[in-house]
Amino acid sequence: MEELGIIAQKSSVESVRHVFSAENCGVNILDSGRTMSDFIDDKIKELSSKDGEKPFLVADLDALYEMHFRWLISLPRVKPFYAVKCNNTPAILGMLSALGTGFDCASKSEMQLALSLGVTPDRIIYAHTTKPTAHIKYARAHGVNTMTFDSEDELIKISRCHSKAKLVLRIAADDAKSFSKLSSKFGARLEQVGKLLTLAAELHLEVIGVSFHVGSGCTESSVFKQAIADARHVFDRAVMLGFQMNLLDIGGGFSGREDFPVKFEEFSEVINEALDEFFPPDIGVKIIAEPGRYFAETVFTLATAVIARRVITSVDEDKGNSSQMMMYYLNDGVYGSVSCLLNDAAHPEIKPYLHRAVESSEPRYQSVIWGPTCDSIDKVADNCWIPEVHIGDWILIDNMGAYTITSCTDFNGFERAQIYPVVSAKTLLTAGLSTATLNI
Ligand SMILES: Cc1ncc(COP(=O)(O)O)c(C=O)c1O
Repeated sequence: MEELGIIAQKSSVESVRHVFSAENCGVNILDSGRTMSDFIDDKIKELSSKDGEKPFLVADLDALYEMHFRWLISLPRVKPFYAVKCNNTPAILGMLSALGTGFDCASKSEMQLALSLGVTPDRIIYAHTTKPTAHIKYARAHGVNTMTFDSEDELIKISRCHSKAKLVLRIAADDAKSFSKLSSKFGARLEQVGKLLTLAAELHLEVIGVSFHVGSGCTESSVFKQAIADARHVFDRAVMLGFQMNLLDIGGGFSGREDFPVKFEEFSEVINEALDEFFPPDIGVKIIAEPGRYFAETVFTLATAVIARRVITSVDEDKGNSSQMMMYYLNDGVYGSVSCLLNDAAHPEIKPYLHRAVESSEPRYQSVIWGPTCDSIDKVADNCWIPEVHIGDWILIDNMGAYTITSCTDFNGFERAQIYPVVSAKTLLTAGLSTATLNI
């Protein structure tokens, strides 16, 4: 394994060298022939030999690169502005930055993080409609000009502290078919749009576009068509009031998982058609999106050790037999990396599996898997049927990249999982080439 900085020098691509420098991201490189599983195996061996019962997350940057490629193929007209709130690991941001994406930041510290990795302010949208004044001032001071709004009060606030901002009017979208709904909290209704645009004009503010978010974990592609049609309507009203409209932001809501009810490609097809109908390429409107889950979810795998267990034996005296239920206690749980179970409606269950190879003939036991804290809601999985596991064994959990590490806590003082970003040398070099050719 080499430090990424060394490989980046070989690739001689300046942007990759900067964003992936070891001090920025601490990325591990897989030499030819080594796989992500090899990395996990070695890390478990290393930690076990040191008696170190520390959970860790592996960020598979090869998978991230593939997701980016899939996006470019599926939604060629839509430039992703990755939603930092979903997973703020510097290596994730660094890779996406090298690939040419923009970033959706929701606060001063998210903007600070993106800027610290060398992202230029024109590649950031401050996509929060209810912003603290100090954060708007930070945006102004650092050249982050594009920001969303959905109320009169926000317009007045922005006119006082960032009068040159380029404003994007967020409208409410139908989120009934999304796991995580947002429209009860954010987004102007269509009937409010005229008043908002008129006030913006009176305040001499510049409105340049429209945004929406259909809710996270959206399962109905047609809501994008309706939201894009609504955005067209708002564009037309804004143009009539004299605004030069040039940005459409179709938000987030996509899943990249293969087992998600609706495939990303099905959404893309509907979106591409709607864009061609309502925002054809020749009208010069830039189209962006704010995907979070799509990029981050499948990229992370959690490795967590069994730190304790209880075997509950029940005896059936009538039948003269007994059964065992296993209770396993991990060193990570819902107050830690598995926080998605509490905070992310689009990720209601997870599927833990054993790190070791499992023979099909091994007996399975009904098992409950708990997190380490003293709270009984700290339950990672119920009613799993898995082979027997011992203290010191490791459990793996896939798809742990979305709304996990950004909402975990230090409850009970348990250590947060260490994050190991990993990339193959091959992907790094290909991505390096891509930064030269795909920079949008
Ligand atoms: C304004 C905004 N943009 C983007 C996102 C990212 O959404 P997703 O992870 O569903 O793509 C969210 C998520 O809550 C959001 O609130």
